[in-house]
This record gives sequence, C-alpha cells and structure tokens, in this order.
Amino acid sequence: MTSDHRITNVPPADESRGPTRRQVFSATLGALAIGLVRLPASTLPWPKGLLGFDPLPPSMSDDVRVAKGYHAKVLMAWGDPLAEDGPVWHPSNTAAQQRQQAGMHHDGMCFFADHADDGSKRSDRGHLAVNHEYIDIGLLYEAGIKSQSAANVAKAQAAVGVSVVKLVRDEQQQWLRGGGFKVDANTAVAIGGPARGHKLLRTPGEFFTKEEHEGIGSHGTLANCSSGFTPWGTYLTCEENFQDFFKRAGNDLSAGEKRYGLPNPYGLPDGWHSRYGWDQHDARFDADREDSRNHFNRFGWVVEIDPKHPERPPVKRTALGRFRHENAAVVIARDGRVVVYMGDDERYEFIYKFVSKQAWHPDDPAANWGLLDEGTLYAAKFDDKLRSDGLFDGHWLPLTTDNPALRERFGDDQGAIAIYAREAAALVGATKMDRPEWIAAPQHQGIGQPVGFVYCSLSNNTKRRSEEEHPANPRANNIWGHILRWAEHGDDAAGENFVWEVFLKGGNRTHPEIEHRGDTLQGEPRQDFGSPDGLFLDQRGVLWVQTDVSSSTINTGPYAGMGNNQLLAVDPQTKEVRRFLTGPNGCEVTGITQTPDGRTLFVNIQHPGERPDDTPSDPMAPLSSWPENEHGRPRSATLVIQRENRDDGRAIGE
Ligand code: FEO
Ligand code: CA
Ligand code: CA
Repeated sequence: MTSDHRITNVPPADESRGPTRRQVFSATLGALAIGLVRLPASTLPWPKGLLGFDPLPPSMSDDVRVAKGYHAKVLMAWGDPLAEDGPVWHPSNTAAQQRQQAGMHHDGMCFFADHADDGSKRSDRGHLAVNHEYIDIGLLYEAGIKSQSAANVAKAQAAVGVSVVKLVRDEQQQWLRGGGFKVDANTAVAIGGPARGHKLLRTPGEFFTKEEHEGIGSHGTLANCSSGFTPWGTYLTCEENFQDFFKRAGNDLSAGEKRYGLPNPYGLPDGWHSRYGWDQHDARFDADREDSRNHFNRFGWVVEIDPKHPERPPVKRTALGRFRHENAAVVIARDGRVVVYMGDDERYEFIYKFVSKQAWHPDDPAANWGLLDEGTLYAAKFDDKLRSDGLFDGHWLPLTTDNPALRERFGDDQGAIAIYAREAAALVGATKMDRPEWIAAPQHQGIGQPVGFVYCSLSNNTKRRSEEEHPANPRANNIWGHILRWAEHGDDAAGENFVWEVFLKGGNRTHPEIEHRGDTLQGEPRQDFGSPDGLFLDQRGVLWVQTDVSSSTINTGPYAGMGNNQLLAVDPQTKEVRRFLTGPNGCEVTGITQTPDGRTLFVNIQHPGERPDDTPSDPMAPLSSWPENEHGRPRSATLVIQRENRDDGRAIGE
C-alpha cells in the first residue's frame, strides 16, 4: 500500500528527539572489518559483474517492461479461479465466488518448493502464497462505491487475506496454476503467544465466537502487506494498515487506539467512518460498540500459515509484537534459535527483532509449529557516534518486564507489552525511523552458517525536520527514502549489539541540490529511484529493490522524469543499481520471490491505475488498462519472469 498519507499514529510527547547531524560517510573500512569488501562505484559502460543485464530507462507507459532477454507473463490476477473449474473473474462475482478466486491488491509472496526424493528443493513445482493487502471497492463492487451492501461487504471480506496456489512448471518450462485455498477475513484463526487470552483481546458481542469471547481466536487476517517464510516451510503474513477496516467515531478513544491509527481519517463517502465501511453491515468492525471494541486489538500481528496443510488453522504469533507489520525476515542464529526482523511502516516508528527461546529443529518440521510463540522481542536503537571504521553501533533493546520503565507501565503483563509494542519500544528509547518497510536477510542458512548484512528500506518521511536529522535517518524532508544495513556483532543474530550504515540513498540525479540526488549512478539510461519498499536478497546475493512512489507523486514535482514504479537490482558490493522492470501507470511494484534455481522470478503488480488522490477507482474512467483492459477494471497480478530462452541455465539477473 502506498501509505505515505496514512500517517495517523500519535507519538507520545515525551519521546526523545534524535540528535542532529547531517553526515555522509563511507563504510569501506567497516565493511572490510566484517569481511565484506566494497568496490568503487561503477561507471559506464555497464560492467559484467554480479548484474548481467542491460538496464531499462524510466518508463511512463501503461505496461510492464522487463530487461532485454527476459519475458514477463501474468500468472495470477485478481479474480482468477484458484481451482481449474472455479468461477471465472467478472465484476459481478459474488462473495462465494470471490472466496474461490485470487484476492485483490497482491503484495508480499513466497514460493515454497516441493522436495525431491533426496530431500533437495525442486524448482519445477511448489506452492505460491500471495498476500492481498487491501481492496479498491470502486473496482470490486460491480456498480461502484455507491452500491455498499451486506453482500458487497462480504465480497470484500473474501478479497483480502492470502491466496495459496499450487504451481507446476511443464516440459516447455511454462508455469501453470493448480488448485489452491484462501485465508480471508472470515477464516478461523488461533491466537498464540503472550497475548493469547488477554483481556484486551476478548470481545463479548454475541456475534463473536467462543474463542473470540475468550481472546484465544479470531476471525481472519486482513491488511496483509508483505510476508516472510520460515525454514520449516510456513508462511508469515504481516498485517499492516488494519485501522482502515474499523469504525471508531466516538470521542472517548484510549491512548492505545490513537497510537494504532484510530479514529480513521477516511470518511468515504459521506457518513462513513471507516475506509471500507464494513461497520455498516458487520458489527464486528464497529469499534464504537463496547462489545466489539477489542476486535481491533486482534489485528496488527504476524500470522503463521502452513501453505501445504490448509486444514491447519493459521495462528497469530503475538510474541512478535503488534504494529503495522511490513514483512518478516527470518534467519537462524548460530545456536539454532530463530530470529525474525520486522519493520513498522509509519513515520517515526521502529525496527524490531524477535529471538525465539528454543532452537529450530531442522529434522522435525512439526516441532517448529509454535516456536514463534515464546521468545524475546527487541526494538532497535541506532547510535549517532561514528566509529573509526566508518560504521555506527546499534543495540537491540529487549521489550520485557525486566526493563524498569516497562515494569512501571505494564507490571508483569508481557501480553500488554506485545499488544502495545509501539509504546514499549518508545519507552525503552528505540530510534524513530523514516517508515521502515521491508527487511531483507540472506536466504535461509543452516545452523552455524553466517548471516552477514541485513537490509531495511526506509521509504520516506516528508515530516522529518532538520533538527531531527540523525545518521540513521539523515535527511530532513526525506522525500526519497534510503536503505540501511546492519551486521550483528560476531555474526550472532541472537545478540544484542550490531554495527550499521546507510547503504544507499534514493534521489533524483537531476535535482539541483546535491542532497536530493542520492547515491545513484550518472550516465544514461538514468538509474535513479525513490521510495524504496520491497527488498529481496536472492541466492546470488543480488539485492532487489521495489519502489512505491505514491500515485500523487509519480512523475511529478521532484519525481518528474523518474518514471513509474519499478524493480531494480543492486550489487551490494559495488552499489551498482540497474533497472530490471517497470510497471504500468499508477501501480506499485511489490512482492518478490524466486525458485531455488534462481531461474524463475515472481513479482507482483499492485493497484495499477490507482488514482492520485487514492480514492476508489471509477470503472467508467480507469487510469490504467493493465493487464487486459477488461470490464474497465485494471487488476493487480502476479507476474512470472523467465529468460526468453528458457533453456538458458543462468539465474535471473545473472
Ligand atoms: Fe504495505 Fe508499508 O507497505
Ligand atoms: Ca510503501
Ligand atoms: Ca510495502
């Protein structure tokens, strides 16, 4: 979601202000010190190194363009049937039909490879789990936004969540969809971890289930932004802008409700008090009702789904904290414990990590279900003092009742710390960031294997003032965003100290002020970018960067000439940036995963044709016709990208 305008948290007045320093630094020595050598930035002509393709120029065309030698094809668009004999997409589809189809507004996704008889991962079959972040009711309802009804709300509730589909690559190396299933806003899910059964998760309304009365279960998942995957083969879907689904128009809001985005500022159309108006036909989403109020607290979590066992109820893992979760990057610590890095995508919010109490069982996948229910949640503090090696220090601050400030506020209630993780992170002095979006860690390594650098995109923060500049968020009026990276001390992902640096700053290389040009390369075609969002480290070590410039900003003002949202490939050692794919008008490019052989890349195109004012679309005047110009409705879709010569054994980007 392009959520630049959805900044509704209310930070407490006493949160500390970061130090003021405008600093450009080189981390060459530091990178050397932890074994990662940085080479000088490259110059034209494009060298043949980690990146082996010719970069694209910016595009303002209503289509998908991909680097020469590659082919992009739609694999699964909104409304495509999950089963071969399922209902075909049409704007008139009912809720029951939508429930059997791919949802709307694709976002994060992961490919789960099947295993061969020898235990190795196959690259020709598996399951693809795809998030559906939100809905455009102007496109979802056949007769547009003025046709709000119980039936249409039910359809909307079937269009969010997660689609899981089987995929098979045939002998011609074409990818085909098999059957699948949905987890949507009405799927029964369990609640695990320290907040399970907490009074703040209980709702007495008669229209809730027994599990919801007790705070141990919930209906569904929604606002599913990005995701992650565990080494035991489960999917972690992350709930982000859940406040958009709730009405809370009263004037007696709690501090917790305000901190998590209520009251919702979107009153569309007149008389609505939530972005999608579900409360008009479903009392569960009317948080003005006391018997529904705590349903709001059952969202904002990481939810674990077993993509190969649809009969297993998903579980909200509350030990990972409640905030606007972007994605979840999982690594294994030296001793086998599971570490999950996470960002909270809002201005001045925080970066977190979770460390499990128990170690991962590589040979017993079933024993790992529940591993994320017990452990320690930390928030990141980025120091501002430059080290002699060109890096900075950082610290993971535990959010536990051992901290005096948290004990004073929460007593011994670890469940409340999880539910109000934002407040806890602020109380311990975590660093307020410029909208943490995705975090990318190296592909799963075995126990004892190195992790190295972990990357996080800070999308932008136009509110940051000059007196708030900090080396980790170094630009006031940060319209471009930047990418940070850190490495844990001793490469121990379970530790509490790390070193970090700003890896790459976005910018417009033609901007008259050098501060706005970022770290992009000179020459043609221009390879600049802004508003980094999706990040993915492939098996070869290429850092893929997806952009989410808001539709109000694309190609205008400081972003003029920079083109539609895009997918870039970055060489982490040279910082070389090459544009690999450009998206259609009004879209964001988000969601990325690949097969184990690196020869197939899956990428999502979300909200093509989104209006600059981000109001619901008008099918009579669509701003994009991608992908097929059917029924006046652009459709979000998953792309499958392969080389045009599919017999070429090289990985994508090589
Ligand atoms: Fe759903 Fe922060 O993007
Ligand atoms: Ca974004
Ligand atoms: Ca995002």
